[in-house]
Amino acid sequence: MTRKNRGAPPTNESRTWVPVTIRDVAKVAGVSTGTVSNVLNRPDIVAEATRRRVLEAVETTGFIRNTQAYQLRGGRSHTVGVVVLDVSNPFFTEMFRGAESSLQAEGYVLMLASTDDSVEREASFVRAMEEHRVEGILITPAAADLEGLAGLRTRGVPTVLLDRKAAADEFCSVTVDDVRGGELAARHLFDMGHTRIVFFNGPTTIRQCRDRRQGVRKAVRALSKRSPREASELSVGALTVRHGEEVVERILSMVPRPTAVMCANDLLALGVLRGLASRDVRVPEDLAVVGYDDLIFGSMLSPALTSVRQPAFELGVAAAELLLDEVRNPEHRHREVRFEPELVVRASSSTAP
Ligand code: RIB
Repeated sequence: MTRKNRGAPPTNESRTWVPVTIRDVAKVAGVSTGTVSNVLNRPDIVAEATRRRVLEAVETTGFIRNTQAYQLRGGRSHTVGVVVLDVSNPFFTEMFRGAESSLQAEGYVLMLASTDDSVEREASFVRAMEEHRVEGILITPAAADLEGLAGLRTRGVPTVLLDRKAAADEFCSVTVDDVRGGELAARHLFDMGHTRIVFFNGPTTIRQCRDRRQGVRKAVRALSKRSPREASELSVGALTVRHGEEVVERILSMVPRPTAVMCANDLLALGVLRGLASRDVRVPEDLAVVGYDDLIFGSMLSPALTSVRQPAFELGVAAAELLLDEVRNPEHRHREVRFEPELVVRASSSTAP
């Protein structure tokens, strides 16, 4: 025998949850179901006293609107999907927080998913979000190309690329000049007197990794005209702390040994710092270290991490504003909002070899 309970969702007891309906609310408030519907969807046409009575009945009965049913009647979901590479990377959560701060103010809720650089995971999350009738999607694509997102454009789903450039007429995008960022980091090390550095990169299927590498190479070409500079490259399959820690042995066994390492992001740099500390290698005296993103923990480390700052929160805010314009403005034109990276010099690279 199962008890029928209205109101709160089922706990772990064997109960059947019968959700409170709009009829229950109407009965408690002493109005018609049409009046309850108006209070929920067009409160401005309902008298203040009636509106208050209905909202009190919603509160006391524990009524929760069925969004799917509401959407089937042509209602909006007030939901936006956010798909990033790695939610455990504070860069993406900070970008999410920026988007959330803008979209929540407009009554939206966000669905967040992490692809871990997998195109298959990305496709399944995008499909699930469309099935939930999200009103738009913010996405850092996992693939080197944007073919996997063509369906969103064909189906007219408002979409903004996060930290990734698109062709002008494809999507709106918010980006950082990662070529410039890679160049800033490498130039800093060369200007500090390093002549032989290693660029520690992530998978070059990720556009940001390719662009940062291009910036490092640009710095080598420019500064080698005056005196020889060298930037060798190591790469790993993912931009994580663990991958950073595992590569330290490879860096220390390079011959000749580099005097500085530039990491493709701060998580790799954190892993390198942990690996060096466990081997009593001094930073920056024995090996200078530079990261990329300028995540919050970088300034708290000892030595504090030099890094290329990406304005992650501002990227998220800008992406949300582009999306809202695409959702609301029939004259919307896709555009790119581009931010400049900034080198933040701290103790991890402050001593010349
Ligand atoms: O999106 C690829 C990388 O760019 C991420 O790891 C993040 O750290 C940013 O720097």
